Amino acid sequence: MDFKTHIQAVKKECLLALKKVDSVDSLKEVEQRFFSRKNGELSKAMKLLKDESGQAKQTLGQMANDIKKELEDAFANKHDELRREQMAAIGEREAIDVTQTLVTAQMPGHIHPLTQGLWELEDVARGMGFIVEDGPELDSDFYVFESLNIPAHHPARDSQDTFYIKDHPNWCMRSHVSNMQVRLMRKYSEKGSKPVRAAYPGRVFRNEAIDATHEHTFYQFEALMVDREIHIGHLVGVIKELLKGLFGREIEVRLRPSYFPFVEPGFELDMKVDFGKGEQWVEMLGCGLMHPRVLEEGGYDPHEWQGLAFGMGLNRLVMAKYGIEDIRHFHSGDMRFLEQF
Ligand code: PHE
Repeated sequence: MDFKTHIQAVKKECLLALKKVDSVDSLKEVEQRFFSRKNGELSKAMKLLKDESGQAKQTLGQMANDIKKELEDAFANKHDELRREQMAAIGEREAIDVTQTLVTAQMPGHIHPLTQGLWELEDVARGMGFIVEDGPELDSDFYVFESLNIPAHHPARDSQDTFYIKDHPNWCMRSHVSNMQVRLMRKYSEKGSKPVRAAYPGRVFRNEAIDATHEHTFYQFEALMVDREIHIGHLVGVIKELLKGLFGREIEVRLRPSYFPFVEPGFELDMKVDFGKGEQWVEMLGCGLMHPRVLEEGGYDPHEWQGLAFGMGLNRLVMAKYGIEDIRHFHSGDMRFLEQF
């Protein structure tokens, strides 16, 4: 077979093969078969050119180049066409229907009832000019007890069965957030005494026998106010305002004299709640006017300054708000409980 016939046959065969190509992979195969330098059909055909000579060789060479160019273009076009098809297929397959309702949008996570209650209280407190502070859960005996007028061996320590750190008797997991009282006051009195209004919620720990109303880990919301001429009216007013914010209605409260070494006078505040069995007085929080010794520890002259402080169990308040009967639900991770809020 002469060169001309042969190369035209190769061209025809190549175009035919190209026509049948339906994927990038098969395109590569055909390309290899015809264009491979070593044993491709075109290279093989070109070898026949060396049998020709003179003018004919030149014309045929030109023709061969044209054919090669034509075939290369055909390959490039086929490649483009395949890519376009491929992209269109991806577009089809991975299309996002923006009008479709998301399944996950119907089940988003939400805020834990304790956190909801906490945020509500913080909001009201901020509205009354209180800043909200965070404090350490692991703290020294000084801030948790000593600075609050509770020296070692004081019987008041028995009411808060505290977790101490092994081999470090001066360190414990705080049994109340009152560990923030003197710490905060010192911050404010550092450069001359200034009035303070601060709330400091947080987690506290006690070695409690666990039952429906006692947990070893729970939350307290405490606040203090130091200023000139602070009296019990302020104390009750601030507490009532917070309770109103949390419960969304006026709450009836009463004070009963009580004893906490860091306040004088000290009270327990009861509030009237209905757990479904009719209205009842329930003990809600400890409060009082700051003891002069605590004011002094905080850097305030008790002859010039007074303070109020109150600490409430957040779990208990949230339980009262929603009628939750068992404190253990909060940390149960039980969706049947959590989904109700
Ligand atoms: N710290 C007390 C407790 O945990 C509560 C309290 C706070 C009492 C502030 C008086 C003043 O029981």
